[in-house]
Amino acid sequence: MKTLQGRTLVVTGAASGFGLETARIAARQGMNVVMADVQAEALELAAREVAGLGAPVLAHRLDVSKAAEVEALGAATLARFGAPHVVFNNAGVGAGGLIWEHSVKDWEWVVGVNLMGVAHGVRVFTPMMLEAARRDAAYEGHIVNTASMAGLVCAPNMGAYNVTKHAVVALSETLYQDLALVTQQVTCSVLCPYFVPTGIHESHRNRPVELRDAAAAPTPSQLIAQAMSSKAVASGKVTAAQVAQFVFDAVAARRFYVYSHPNALAPVQTRLDDIVQRRNPSDPFATRPEVGERLRAALRGDA
Ligand SMILES: NC(=O)c1ccc[n+]([C@@H]2O[C@H](COP(=O)([O-])OP(=O)(O)OC[C@H]3O[C@@H](n4cnc5c(N)ncnc54)[C@H](O)[C@@H]3O)[C@@H](O)[C@H]2O)c1
Repeated sequence: MKTLQGRTLVVTGAASGFGLETARIAARQGMNVVMADVQAEALELAAREVAGLGAPVLAHRLDVSKAAEVEALGAATLARFGAPHVVFNNAGVGAGGLIWEHSVKDWEWVVGVNLMGVAHGVRVFTPMMLEAARRDAAYEGHIVNTASMAGLVCAPNMGAYNVTKHAVVALSETLYQDLALVTQQVTCSVLCPYFVPTGIHESHRNRPVELRDAAAAPTPSQLIAQAMSSKAVASGKVTAAQVAQFVFDAVAARRFYVYSHPNALAPVQTRLDDIVQRRNPSDPFATRPEVGERLRAALRGDA
């Protein structure tokens, strides 16, 4: 994309983390900013701050897992700013633990937000962007979907999160190929961050009441996953602001895969080698056996 000035960004999960940092950069670049999030109060605060940077801002509360609410976001965006130029389907939630211990509500929540949220964003905004491209040969559009390194490897005890993030990588690669069949003016990227300090380890804060398991306490594996992810996220050295800048760099360069930690891709190569060489999945703790030992001991109740 040649310029961001005067163009429109739509970002979901805009009240915190990568979404908020992206909105801040967009505002500084002179974009119109549509900020969407499920947390009304946090969204209001974030939108006020971004508007304070001088950007025209549309703040829209929604739950991205709900088809009609993403459709309403699309209609509101179109009415205020016309077809957007950058759409960042970024809202997501974390939930781990042994894969068979998720409740039905766990699956509905995590798949609903992480996968269906992205699917709805693509379903609602892509036709709008293609229509804008048909009308204007100078129009450029770019969709960015947030997956994770968890979409490229399968670390154990990360449950449904891994499943949804692999699905977002597949959705995004398919979107890339499908767009290339019909246009040169709209393309897409997938963001695959490693651990970065944000609010992701406190995702339960935005879990809807109807998808909570009021009666069931978290299982030991879920508590272990929560503790490990909190520690890993808190100790991340790359900042959310840097990741947001990587997103805009990728948009400018029309680069598909966006990483926060490009030096941490060796496990992806190992996984691909396992697949192609028909080996069973490699030990994810091969380079740090003490971490695997600690996890095994904790899960078996020996720690
Ligand atoms: N931080 C990391 O280490 C990391 C690593 C890999 C991937 N990710 C992904 O990055 C994305 C952004 O997360 P973050 O790290 O900035 O976390 P964050 O918790 O700081 O921000 C996520 C935002 O999404 C919003 N949200 C949650 N459910 C929603 C819903 N149903 N509808 C609309 N908004 C909703 C939250 O209210 C929050 O403001 C997520 O998809 C996450 O899975 C994060």
